[in-house]
Amino acid sequence: MAERPYVIDELISAKAIAARIEDLCRKIRREFSDTDKLVVVGLLRGSFVFIADLVRELDLPIEVDFLEASSYGDSTESSREVRILKDLRGAIEGRDVLVVEDIVDTGHTLNHVIGLLTSRKPARLKSIALLDKPSRREVDFRADWIGFEIPDEFVVGYGIDFAQRNRNLPYIGKVRFTERAS
Ligand code: IMP
Repeated sequence: MAERPYVIDELISAKAIAARIEDLCRKIRREFSDTDKLVVVGLLRGSFVFIADLVRELDLPIEVDFLEASSYGDSTESSREVRILKDLRGAIEGRDVLVVEDIVDTGHTLNHVIGLLTSRKPARLKSIALLDKPSRREVDFRADWIGFEIPDEFVVGYGIDFAQRNRNLPYIGKVRFTERAS
């Protein structure tokens, strides 16, 4: 699959992403205005650009931690069975926690992670995803905040990869397979 030639068509510009992050941060600030220190948990690896922009816009006392769950590997299909590859460094019991994800697709990953973190008894646990593909959902899950709803397209950029490539594009693009490389 990864060897098939493809081009990337821009779907969401860097400017639109930045504007949406400002909106979202206004809402998140309101929700957590009373927090001592919010633990912002990024799901590796796809959220690393999003979390970097999000925390700089948040203007709240925060800690950052990361968790890595298994995802697509080198394919464009979800594995459905979610495994934790790297757990949090810190305890979250009694803490306010915001989980940051790149995309909710089938919903298995974030649903599993939220279940796991809930069992650790945080004071408040909220989730945000930059992108949501509701038409692909297989479990009943919705993040508390969503950047953009998108159709059933395979996307890359702004931290999101296809077989580990294209994470460094500043915008979100959709992958379009071509007969020949262009
Ligand atoms: P879910 O468990 O099916 O919701 O999948 C979530 C994970 O699959 C995301 O965190 C991404 O790592 C990956 N994923 C889902 N859709 C895409 C896509 O369009 N491009 C790249 N990765 C994706």
